[in-house]
Amino acid sequence: MAITTTVITGATSGIGEATAFALARKDHALYLLVRNVQKSGELKQRISKETGNKNVHIVYCDLTDLTTVAAAADELRSKLFNVQVLINNAGGMFNHFALTKDGFETTFQLNHLGHFLLTKKLMPLLEKGQARIINVSSDLHRRGKPDFESINDPQKYSAMGAYGNSKLFNIYFTKSIAGRYASKGITSYALHPGVVKTNFNSKLTGGLKLMFSLATPFMITAEKGAETSVYLATAPKLEPKSGSYFVRKKPVKPAGIAQDETSRERLWNLSETMVAKFDV
Ligand SMILES: NC(=O)c1ccc[n+]([C@@H]2O[C@H](COP(=O)([O-])OP(=O)(O)OC[C@H]3O[C@@H](n4cnc5c(N)ncnc54)[C@H](OP(=O)(O)O)[C@@H]3O)[C@@H](O)[C@H]2O)c1
Repeated sequence: MAITTTVITGATSGIGEATAFALARKDHALYLLVRNVQKSGELKQRISKETGNKNVHIVYCDLTDLTTVAAAADELRSKLFNVQVLINNAGGMFNHFALTKDGFETTFQLNHLGHFLLTKKLMPLLEKGQARIINVSSDLHRRGKPDFESINDPQKYSAMGAYGNSKLFNIYFTKSIAGRYASKGITSYALHPGVVKTNFNSKLTGGLKLMFSLATPFMITAEKGAETSVYLATAPKLEPKSGSYFVRKKPVKPAGIAQDETSRERLWNLSETMVAKFDV
């Protein structure tokens, strides 16, 4: 049986970790792109021990440092012939405005731009693998109201606003890939995993932490939260649904603003300009 090679970001915790375990059980060769190498060494051992799958590999990649993202993609290109599944899963929300060392607002770079660069740099492998690109979005994309001029403006920053925009960008990115790369055999899907008990709110403070804490008793497990990612990575015959947004393994209509082709194109062009120095 041919081995499926799968690249996942954010597998050291929560939904990404549960996704990695589930795909390891389905015999995928896993390339885990992580920023915490110590934590990932322990994770690799656990996956191998609990699933029997020894085909688990760690690649350093901090999505808030684009040089490491480009280096991770180069490392994969030097090691692999193709990739069949890319799961852009890592993400976060931040109380306070901060710029990354690349000069972009952190939520924007972690949740969107880092994955944009990674995906573009991996395109030769993804094309050879006729890959599925899966972007973990959120129902909070419905809070998105993108103002492309103010992404880097601390005066206009709110944690929820930046997060909602970034998750809307995940859907724009999904639809753009589906449109631009269909002729290359590449498909793309976005998803909402549910409201999931993970480390997501561990670094939040104040009202935001309280809001997420109050929701904790109603949250689903990481394993349940990973189900749609695993479904999209493994289900046969999904191609006609390329570009769709999935919730509980079913395509669902996203917010009206997610269909805005002008904003979608603007995001693509802006992102290309922002990563242009990495030669994508
Ligand atoms: N939890 C929910 O209810 C929920 C709902 C909707 C959507 N989501 C989405 O689901 C995805 C996974 O979130 P989660 O709930 O599983 O959260 P989580 O437990 O906090 O996991 C986040 C993952 O992202 C990684 N990460 C954070 N910053 C990174 C960076 N700079 N570079 C590389 N990796 C980085 C983390 O690595 P470390 O282990 O090193 O911190 C961790 O592996 C996110 O995209 C989130 O927006 C979650």
